[in-house]
Amino acid sequence: MTSQAYLSELFSLEGRVAVVTGGSSGIGRAIAEALARAGASVVVVARRETELAATVGDLEAQGCRAARVSADLGTRDGVRAAAEGAAKAFGEPDILVNCAGINLRPPLGELGEDVWDTTMAVNLEAPHLLGQRFGPGMAERGFGRIIHITSQQAHRAFVQSGAYGVSKGALESLARSQAEAWSPYGVTCNTLVPGFVMTPLNTRLSSDPEKVAALAARTMVGRNGLAEDFAGAAVFLASRASAYVTGQAIFVDGGFSVH
Ligand SMILES: NC(=O)c1ccc[n+]([C@@H]2O[C@H](COP(=O)([O-])OP(=O)(O)OC[C@H]3O[C@@H](n4cnc5c(N)ncnc54)[C@H](OP(=O)(O)O)[C@@H]3O)[C@@H](O)[C@H]2O)c1
Repeated sequence: MTSQAYLSELFSLEGRVAVVTGGSSGIGRAIAEALARAGASVVVVARRETELAATVGDLEAQGCRAARVSADLGTRDGVRAAAEGAAKAFGEPDILVNCAGINLRPPLGELGEDVWDTTMAVNLEAPHLLGQRFGPGMAERGFGRIIHITSQQAHRAFVQSGAYGVSKGALESLARSQAEAWSPYGVTCNTLVPGFVMTPLNTRLSSDPEKVAALAARTMVGRNGLAEDFAGAAVFLASRASAYVTGQAIFVDGGFSVH
């Protein structure tokens, strides 16, 4: 067997269908591209059409199969519409990546019910509902991969974790519950934990060079994260190679969490 064939056997996503929420920007976009270039047909889900269309155009220009669904994952109807639209594009997915997220972080004492509700809806309830919609089918077919993107705040509180940290902590628990339910049927459920990654999500922080440098100094690698840093870990978790990895949090953070 050539090394190419061996690598394909481990990691190729040829013939797989993937849905990536938040796949039109930042980390989600990099993951969508990685899965598509590894062979999967990828459906990207987000609200803004222009960014979705640009992402799909870019993937198609690279010879990949891609489709888009515009939906608001902040409402239950929006999640249902997203799921149905996504399944229509290339069929029921084998891989679900929950990357869409929002980062509203007022001081906890000033955190209103609206921020709490929106944060929980997008960051936690949508991943749960999409899991309910797609997990059982993956289990029935004997193969599935669910990947959530969480946060350092899932593990410790800092820089006003607030509702955001609660939603990400619960998302890690959701991955474990899903892993318990579906791993016996070939469906693994894991989380990727970023450090600080310069994306539109944290424009305000990214525009402060001192804070950016201080965050880079907290890593072991010596720099902040790039969206592309998630490509390898995402392909691994989506592939056959990770069949015995489930219920885990994999830190893609340059050592930030252990420094
Ligand atoms: N960047 C970091 O340093 C960092 C650190 C830790 C964790 N994370 C996590 O990583 C994930 C991706 O973050 P990112 O930095 O790549 O952010 P980003 O560039 O802002 O991308 C967020 C994505 O989510 C989509 N989205 C947001 N609200 C949505 C909604 N209501 N319905 C549907 N789609 C929605 C956005 O598209 P639309 O706005 O068009 O809907 C966009 O595609 C998030 O879960 C975030 O919490 C990021």
